[in-house]
Amino acid sequence: MDIWRKKSIENMLAEREENKRGLVKTLGVADLTALGVGAVIGTGIFVLTGVAAANYAGPGVVFSFILSGIAAGLAAMVYAELAAAIPSAGSAYTFSYVSLGEMIAWLVGWNLILEYLVAAGAVSIGWSSYVKDLVQSLGFTLPTAYTTSPFDGGIINLPAVFIVLAITGLIITGTQHSATANKIIVIAKLAAIALFIALGIQHINPANWQPLLPYGISGVFHGAAIVFFAYIGFDAVATASEEVKKPQKDLPRSIILTLVISTTLYVIVAGILTAMVKYTALNTASPVTTALLRVGIPWASAVVSVGALAGLTSVLLVSMYGQSRIFFAMARDNLLPPIFDWLHPRLKTPVWDSIIIGIVVAAIGAFLPIGLVAELANIGTLTAFIAVSIGAIILRRTKPDLHRPFRLPFMPVIPILTIISAAYLAINLPPLTWVRFAVWIGLGLLVYAYYGYKRSNLAGNSETSFSAAAVPEAARKPVPPKDNDD
Ligand code: ALA
Repeated sequence: MDIWRKKSIENMLAEREENKRGLVKTLGVADLTALGVGAVIGTGIFVLTGVAAANYAGPGVVFSFILSGIAAGLAAMVYAELAAAIPSAGSAYTFSYVSLGEMIAWLVGWNLILEYLVAAGAVSIGWSSYVKDLVQSLGFTLPTAYTTSPFDGGIINLPAVFIVLAITGLIITGTQHSATANKIIVIAKLAAIALFIALGIQHINPANWQPLLPYGISGVFHGAAIVFFAYIGFDAVATASEEVKKPQKDLPRSIILTLVISTTLYVIVAGILTAMVKYTALNTASPVTTALLRVGIPWASAVVSVGALAGLTSVLLVSMYGQSRIFFAMARDNLLPPIFDWLHPRLKTPVWDSIIIGIVVAAIGAFLPIGLVAELANIGTLTAFIAVSIGAIILRRTKPDLHRPFRLPFMPVIPILTIISAAYLAINLPPLTWVRFAVWIGLGLLVYAYYGYKRSNLAGNSETSFSAAAVPEAARKPVPPKDNDD
């Protein structure tokens, strides 16, 4: 059984050439950074800061954001090297396929379902909380039974279902989301954050920072493992690489810039939030607006809700797009059924991908609590970081001559640090998350053994590369034009 068979980079690059048709190189650093910030800033800051402060880190959540920002920053550099050398819709899945072999690539793709699809579920739950708050600040109350999961005492979370289905419809119709629309959303959410900072800073009470580390240092690490969710999504920048004017320079710059902007804002917001109200009062799914309400500024709470909703919507859109692209890449390699790389003849979008993703994300949003969902997304992403880092080290050895427009310095220091920091954050996730993750991996291995392994384009071919001519026509459909920009 050849579970280590690899896709050849030469064929990958040929596929890239094929996919390039129709994609215009229009994106620069500003567009890409807007894309990154659009994809990254969302639930992590608007929702999970409260959960992490109240239950894990206390005011020390500020340090949690710094720690997970460092882990994400290291991983971002590794992604930058690989994305510039092998720009592909499949992102971490593809990097693993060429470096670590098929089974690991399959598992990485399987874990990316946690990073994109499950994370989208978490974002939809956060969206619902902010709608509830907004409606409340207008003087109405939505019934808890229909706005909360059964785990939190409700029946179904209908606003979460609504937003997911609305976005699914948008994705299916292939609406051309312009970079301008994305920038407007990004400006709205940055404005909401700026307003929060400007008002919140006037209501700081340093007494609330005492005790700084109520749960000790270990609480800070547990908190870091939770708020890591805030950094998920920067790899969306990497998937846009085929449309970048100067990928060699712009890609790494934008990825790093996205992380610098996000980390800075996260640290400031977390610091102000925990100084405005006691961390124990932040155990809510909308801590930012809760804090503004508590200090008596309801109008600002309403305005910030709108900005947060815009931000969460863009994160949801990008996550669901990202997932459909990854399913598409996996089906193109025949590791998933052909329905996943079927393009609607007129819309030119993978309609079934979007419908299936929409239904599953809506179900997650409807019935599951945010903590459980975000933790699963984190563990999936962290393991993908580890696999990609190992892949980067191996590729430097097996393909030393591969053209790498962006080369990591001090190789293999950065990938090794990424592996250590990602593993450390993963270890700090709750034990139950590990159990769920183990079940998920077991399920993935079964699907691979009974489906992917036999159907793969590389099946029956024990060599480590395959001829492009041997790829079935169905597996060589062009990737649909990508709307990465929001
Ligand atoms: N980083 C994204 C968020 O926080 C997934 O919503």
